[in-house]
Amino acid sequence: MAVQRVKSKLAKTKVLEQHCYIRDFIPLTRELSKVSLNEMLTQHSMVYIKPDIGSFGNGVMRIEQQPDGLYRLQLQSDIYSYSSFDRLYEGIRKLAGHKKYLVQRGIELLRYNDRRFDLRVMVQKNPKGKWETTGIIGRLAHPAKAVTNYHSGGTPLSFEQLTQAILTDEERQALTQRLKLIGAAAASGLQSAYPRLKELGLDIAIDTDKRPWLLEVNTLPDPWLFRKHDDPAVFRKIYHYAAAYGRFKHSRRSKRARQLRSSGHAHKTQKPSP
Ligand SMILES: Nc1ncnc2c1ncn2[C@@H]1O[C@H](COP(=O)(O)OP(=O)(O)OP(=O)(O)O)[C@@H](O)[C@H]1O
Ligand SMILES: [Mg+2]
Repeated sequence: MAVQRVKSKLAKTKVLEQHCYIRDFIPLTRELSKVSLNEMLTQHSMVYIKPDIGSFGNGVMRIEQQPDGLYRLQLQSDIYSYSSFDRLYEGIRKLAGHKKYLVQRGIELLRYNDRRFDLRVMVQKNPKGKWETTGIIGRLAHPAKAVTNYHSGGTPLSFEQLTQAILTDEERQALTQRLKLIGAAAASGLQSAYPRLKELGLDIAIDTDKRPWLLEVNTLPDPWLFRKHDDPAVFRKIYHYAAAYGRFKHSRRSKRARQLRSSGHAHKTQKPSP
């Protein structure tokens, strides 16, 4: 049976909010309306709004109320400024159209070379049928953007490199363990509602207090991003698990996977890493 995919971010968030361990890592998230945005902006000076169904960072906007009272909105590298809440909401409606959107408390991401970064955590069903966190990689935002997505000019970089100056080795190890737990717990939580899931890509923000936040869970995560991982065994394992649950069957990538196999690259990846 085909691997299950779930597009609605709100639907996935509702399920995850029921999970007693994961709930604490989810920033407050609501369906966007004039009322919910107003409430969120009185509680938090910065929020993100994003399409309920969307990807690649498209349509994601960062909104903050500045000390001078003006509202600042960033979409890709465009910056807009509004003198009142009503004007802000009108502006959003022009930019977002009538698409369903959600509003989420904004997390102030850590920075590397003055660029924001977050983490992609890959979680997969292993060939024994257990959820396993198989890879963690950092994503560094384009200097002029408020999203870290590769398709919006983000750069994959290792978690170690990004956090070298911020975390001690012990802190990084402890955070890695925590991310592994978050990965497995989010997977088992979502699986209760969506039983045919096999792979997830968690977008995790680390805030300036070094606390992890689960921004969203992708059900069609990009395994190829992990070719950029410093340790080639990580991509080999991800590829091997993905092939085992049929990720590449009938997919646009299957031609690519065949090419890799015939070039000998993917053949090596068939072996799980130790
Ligand atoms: N609440 C938030 N606080 C801080 N940054 C956020 C927040 N929500 C999103 N972002 C930034 O915007 C990026 C894109 O948001 P998100 O992953 O939710 O949507 P998407 O990328 O369009 O979806 P997909 O990952 O499926 O392609 C995140 O990776 C992160 O860098
Ligand atoms: Mg994302």
